[in-house]
Amino acid sequence: MSDRDFIKELGIRHIGIIMDGNGRWAKKRFLPRAAGHSQGAKAFKSCLDSCVRLGIPCVTFYAFSTENWSRPKEEVDALMKLFCSFMDEMLKLDSKNIRIRFLGDRSKLPQKVVDKMIQAENMYSDNTGMWCCIALNYGGREEIVNAAKKAAELYREGKITLEELNEDKFSSLLYTEGLPEVDLIIRPSGEQRLSNFLIWQSSYAEYVFMDVLWPDFTENDLIKALREYSERNRRFGGV
Ligand code: IPE
Ligand code: IPE
Ligand code: MG
Repeated sequence: MSDRDFIKELGIRHIGIIMDGNGRWAKKRFLPRAAGHSQGAKAFKSCLDSCVRLGIPCVTFYAFSTENWSRPKEEVDALMKLFCSFMDEMLKLDSKNIRIRFLGDRSKLPQKVVDKMIQAENMYSDNTGMWCCIALNYGGREEIVNAAKKAAELYREGKITLEELNEDKFSSLLYTEGLPEVDLIIRPSGEQRLSNFLIWQSSYAEYVFMDVLWPDFTENDLIKALREYSERNRRFGGV
């Protein structure tokens, strides 16, 4: 069976990837951390290609968390610069029919980055293929508080009753509105935690933690994670 057929049979809907380990990758080579992030951006592009080729319906990449602002200014600035040049590339790219969505709080991002995000989302908006979501200034708790505020606003305006506010309605107020359920979260770099990534959406996801550092992550690693996922017995509380 081809990898594509295997994944189709698996019926996987949405994968989340925590792109971690850039700093350690650079450190091992006596390079500045920013060099690790540049290499991480290359790994991102090739992983995106792999996801398209393998026919994965939706993938969310964790690029910058609400906690990452606590890093040295120099590193944050380098990351914002990298996002800009990366977006410029995306805008030139043969789109492969992908749809792009950015998840997270845009209000604290530099205007230049936000403008490019909007441009990229608009440019790809007529596409019908894979969802490529990029979590940028994203925090799961921030997302939930933000959704709670939206719900309160709807209630105040009389547009929703308390009875109508159920899990589906609440989900529709999150950044991931309309996206498929998250089936699998992959975290390279050896860390075994979520770091505030998709905490609502991954309540029943499977987790695969891998020792490879993100800049070294290849299609083989992705397939390895999917094979591990295929061996899990998902019960959703049933028997
Ligand atoms: C992930 O790599 C990239 C971002 C958080 C932006 P790190 O920079 O966290 O790499 P390590 O964990 O220090 O190796
Ligand atoms: C999570 O990685 C955020 C991203 C990959 C964007 P971190 O490196 O920031 O997470 P911690 O600090 O190890 O939990
Ligand atoms: Mg890290």
